[in-house]
Amino acid sequence: MLTIAVSKGRIYQEALPLLAAADIEPTCDPETSRKLILPTNQKDVRLLIIRATDVPTYVACGAADAGIAGKDVLVEHGAAGLYEPLDLGIARCRMMTAGKVGENWQGRRLRVATKYVNTARRYFATQGIQAEIIKLYGSMELAPLVGLAECIVDLVDTGNTLKANGLEPKDLIMHVSSRLVVNKAAMKMKHERIKALILALESAVSTEVTT
Ligand code: ATP
Ligand code: PRP
Repeated sequence: MLTIAVSKGRIYQEALPLLAAADIEPTCDPETSRKLILPTNQKDVRLLIIRATDVPTYVACGAADAGIAGKDVLVEHGAAGLYEPLDLGIARCRMMTAGKVGENWQGRRLRVATKYVNTARRYFATQGIQAEIIKLYGSMELAPLVGLAECIVDLVDTGNTLKANGLEPKDLIMHVSSRLVVNKAAMKMKHERIKALILALESAVSTEVTT
């Protein structure tokens, strides 16, 4: 059995065509079904439907052989127990600092609200900026509006969410896209099966890029 962990929503939707090109098609829809383990057209392949932030945990401990997760989540989690053989090029966005339009933080001690506490701490340390990191679980854009923090670290795509809340992107921390990750032990134990999956997805990604 090959078990692949994917998160519902954006990543699942964008991964479906790539999985289909690798001949993996779930036989039910996670948006309408309450099932957390989705069977597929291949009887020895199943998908686990979990929270995006939980994908590295399931894969690193071997509860899933492979998974699809955003680079944001992977950097925040750390790479222990995981290989990251392929950039799938889906769910593209940027991780950025953001704050109120026109506000300048230069030389000030900064409060930073984010769900990416490890990444934010490392980023501000490399910039030589003293920052107090405040852990939030969502709706980071609210923090500067109500005086919880001057700065947020969050994902930006169109910039519409920031704009709608009177905020603007400031500095780029990293470009983000979703990656295929593989459990290190599974890569050895199920080498042929996983190598075939990587090659099939790689070919699907390059076809997507050129069409
Ligand atoms: P969780 O459910 O664990 O809190 P989440 O609500 O952030 O996670 P999604 O919004 O589905 O879950 O995001 C999953 C991944 O998609 C993120 O980790 C990131 O890699 C990518 N992503 C998030 N927001 C965007 C966006 N606006 N545009 C493109 N990709 C995005
Ligand atoms: C993500 C992210 C930002 C937004 C950025 O949220 O956390 O809030 O997208 O995208 P934009 O620049 O195109 O506006 P998402 O839509 O996933 O909502 P959630 O984090 O609340 O699930």
